Amino acid sequence: MNIVNEIIENFKTNKELYIGEKVTISEHMIQTAMLAEKNNSSKSLVCACLLHDYGHFIVKDPDLLVSKSLDGKHEDLGYEFLKKYFVSDVIEPIKLHVDAKRYLCRNKSYYEHLSQASKVSLDLQGGFMTDDEAKKFSLLKYFEEAVKVRKYDDDGKIPDIKIKKIDDYQELISSQLIK
Ligand SMILES: [Fe+2]
Repeated sequence: MNIVNEIIENFKTNKELYIGEKVTISEHMIQTAMLAEKNNSSKSLVCACLLHDYGHFIVKDPDLLVSKSLDGKHEDLGYEFLKKYFVSDVIEPIKLHVDAKRYLCRNKSYYEHLSQASKVSLDLQGGFMTDDEAKKFSLLKYFEEAVKVRKYDDDGKIPDIKIKKIDDYQELISSQLIK
């Protein structure tokens, strides 16, 4: 099976709720991509949004991680897997999307706006960035894209809304493969 079909299959078979939320991981990623599209983002950014939590499909036992309060480092798992296939504009923001949360949460109103589950996982992910960390982070090449992915990510958790099908993204996913 080629990688695009494999990704689409994984989206379809995933029925697991996104940890602590009322949407599945697949629904959450599609909602995140739809928000990027609504804001006229580039194809690469839409694809990054669509695949940003792909690492959760790779984690062997997500429930065990939660029960032991461990951070699965899903951003690294997703990045390591996807980098074999996708261009930098897709994978780099994915790698940074958890750090982007740690960056954005320095703003109190941003933190308040997070879901409860996301507030809990922030601690496991390293908590708020220090001033030094934030400064370094803001100088990274993919800083802006990572922050955008993160903002759509945080808003893409609405239960029971009409969303696109993963098949609708087949062409877009294919267009972002390393040539
Ligand atoms: Fe997410």
